[in-house]
Amino acid sequence: MSRRPRICDYGDSSYRQDFWEGQGRDYEDAVERRLLRSLFQRRGGCRLLEIGAGFGRISGEYRAYEQVVLLDYSLEQLQYARRQLGDDGYLYVAADAYRMPFRPASFDAATMIRVLHHFEDVPAVLRQIRAVLADESRFILEYANKRNLKAMARHLLGRNGWDPYSLAPVEFVELNFNFHPDYMRQRLSESGFRLQRALPVSWFRLNVLKRALPTGMLAALDAALQHTGWELSPSIFLDLHTTGNGSQALIPAEDPLAIMRCPETGAALRRAEGGLVSDGGIRWAIQQGVYDFRQPLSKM
Ligand SMILES: C[S@@+](CC[C@H](N)C(=O)[O-])C[C@H]1O[C@@H](n2cnc3c(N)ncnc32)[C@H](O)[C@@H]1O
Repeated sequence: MSRRPRICDYGDSSYRQDFWEGQGRDYEDAVERRLLRSLFQRRGGCRLLEIGAGFGRISGEYRAYEQVVLLDYSLEQLQYARRQLGDDGYLYVAADAYRMPFRPASFDAATMIRVLHHFEDVPAVLRQIRAVLADESRFILEYANKRNLKAMARHLLGRNGWDPYSLAPVEFVELNFNFHPDYMRQRLSESGFRLQRALPVSWFRLNVLKRALPTGMLAALDAALQHTGWELSPSIFLDLHTTGNGSQALIPAEDPLAIMRCPETGAALRRAEGGLVSDGGIRWAIQQGVYDFRQPLSKM
């Protein structure tokens, strides 16, 4: 892709109120939290990057890590997250995931939940993620599965307009993509990730079931189905590790600037009045405790 990929900017949207709060999605939320808890309960680490953290809905599930860095393109979503979570153990970075403002090997874990479906250039974002992870790091990736049971049934009845079995991603609404499991495996392997486990999630996204059965019961049934590995649900969580021989060690960092770098030039950053400045003279803002790498304040 030669032009810059488009970004799905949530800006100051009311995603939290319009999609989650009181919107009948307690089951989806419970299922994802329960799974993340089980994936991280015994295994923490030093520094986790949450890509597309939004308003911090699930950021509290990563407490096993000493530091959690929330990255999102939306400054407003991050400012809300900061008001909820505070600064102790958390860092907030407004940036484009296609242009990460971090030095290589800054993290020993990353997650990306309900975000990849907004990316039109999957190889490009996976390369960025791999670069900021040290060797043998963990990456939990959720993606929207185009080959799910509902899509297969609709295809059989001629109601889809697209083929759930073809490998190419389908953009069913502008900047909303579903991906085939084999497409994801290929892209991940090319980008330096090794698959440990695929966990099919959110089997019961049917209002009739969600109304009839208690959320806890549905979430427990879902958890049982996740272990089948049948990749036929609308959402798939992948438990991945970065490949490598361990030569690229995690950067230790007392100061957040040790892991940050200018997303335009890759140069080191230092503090300056009102924000940061790169060695090449590019200035970036810090807004209410959020490092803002979306657009520079000025260039030399
Ligand atoms: C559907 S929300 C998911 C938020 C959160 N992960 C959750 O599950 O509640 C998708 C998020 O991805 C962010 N996003 C989309 N494209 C991005 C990009 N190129 N760089 C950084 N964040 C991006 C949006 O701003 C939005 O907050």
